[in-house]
Amino acid sequence: MTNGLTVGNGHLLTGGIDTVELAEQYGTPLYVMDEDMIRQACREFKTSIDECYGRGMVCYATKAFCCKEMCRIMNDEGIGLDTVSGGEIYTALSAGFPAERIVFTSNNKKDEEIAFAIDNGVGRITCDNIEELYRISDIAVKKGRTVRVMLRLKPGVEAHTFEAVMTGQIDSKFGFAIETGEALKAAKKVAVLPGIDLAGVHCHIGSQIHDIAPFEKAAEVMFEFIAKLRDEGITIKDLSLGGGFGIKYTDKDVPVPYGDYMKRVSARVRECCDRFGLEMPFIMIEPGRSIAAPAGITLYTVGSRKTIPGIRTYIGIDGGMPDNPRYALYKSEYTAVVANKADEPKSETVTIAGRTCESGDLIGENMPLQHAEAGDIVAILATGAYNYSMASHYNRVPNAAVVMVRDGKSRVVVRRETFEDMCVNDL
Ligand code: LLP
Repeated sequence: MTNGLTVGNGHLLTGGIDTVELAEQYGTPLYVMDEDMIRQACREFKTSIDECYGRGMVCYATKAFCCKEMCRIMNDEGIGLDTVSGGEIYTALSAGFPAERIVFTSNNKKDEEIAFAIDNGVGRITCDNIEELYRISDIAVKKGRTVRVMLRLKPGVEAHTFEAVMTGQIDSKFGFAIETGEALKAAKKVAVLPGIDLAGVHCHIGSQIHDIAPFEKAAEVMFEFIAKLRDEGITIKDLSLGGGFGIKYTDKDVPVPYGDYMKRVSARVRECCDRFGLEMPFIMIEPGRSIAAPAGITLYTVGSRKTIPGIRTYIGIDGGMPDNPRYALYKSEYTAVVANKADEPKSETVTIAGRTCESGDLIGENMPLQHAEAGDIVAILATGAYNYSMASHYNRVPNAAVVMVRDGKSRVVVRRETFEDMCVNDL
């Protein structure tokens, strides 16, 4: 089985631990993360950066899955964080994460978030638009500080992924466009604005991408721009090539090994440095999904089985859209396993339905599954990214707990919310 999962005594095991026992011990729905897989992914990326570029930094994109323990693990692995909000920065700092290794990248930062980042010494701020540039400058000047800023650019590369997560093309809300001259104008502005030091440029072309070519193309476009800036007397020290590496959700996904991606992109980067007579910048990458998703599964208890003759069978579970909105949002496909019948064949094709008051609350349709009935435990695989982090309280359903497994042991890293938690801010 994939994702560090095995089968023992007919049960699904993650990190060697029986998932049926985890469901009994901690209740469901339950997110379970295999810590060794998370660490392994970090090491693969870090080793690749070291081997391919010599110097650079892997910044885990915390939007994929953010909690204090995840930040502690990232710190322990010696990588950086790509954060997207004051909340994520706060979480990282509360976990003792060094501010210097935090990058703050978002498309509409609030003044108080900028101030919070500056006050706490966040290493780099990636600026998305001209108004934000002025605001960062103003706030930095008022505080008597100089901020290292990166400019988020749109390289105009279309990556093959679903539209909602494509971000590098020209019609995108993210960043400065290169081809319209907007990016060059912004870079020249930085040179004269006080309180800002132009550290680098950044791009991110999309997510769940299985091709290497769009990444190579984006790198090339970025270097053409860096060369243009050099000709204008502006030196770029840092280059972030973003995240977006695809993972395997179902057998339809054939992810590129990350080492292959790194080798091919770094070869293009080196070739560009030679072509344009540039020094190798400090290279950053921002993997999110590829670090967190494969390590995670979600466990649910089946409450009902409803067969509509000639139409479909619904398997009703005790979670759904509030803990995993990705099918409702993107029609994202997942692999499901009945954890207590993991050695049985997947004899049925079912729709797994969530518990909220919404027809679209489904985990998936046409999903191959073992015969499931009330009381069974269903595991959905590769849910470590963009599930917990995208959870909602729809229908006032408390958020599920997150458990990490490692060395044959399990521990809660985010406790299950209570009804009381739901009302904590109600007046
Ligand atoms: N860097 C930036 C600037 C980003 O915007 C993102 C993701 C990443 C890095 C990390 O990308 P990753 O390696 O995880 O693909 N909610 C969607 C995914 C949205 C991704 C947004 N940006 C989903 O559930 O598929």
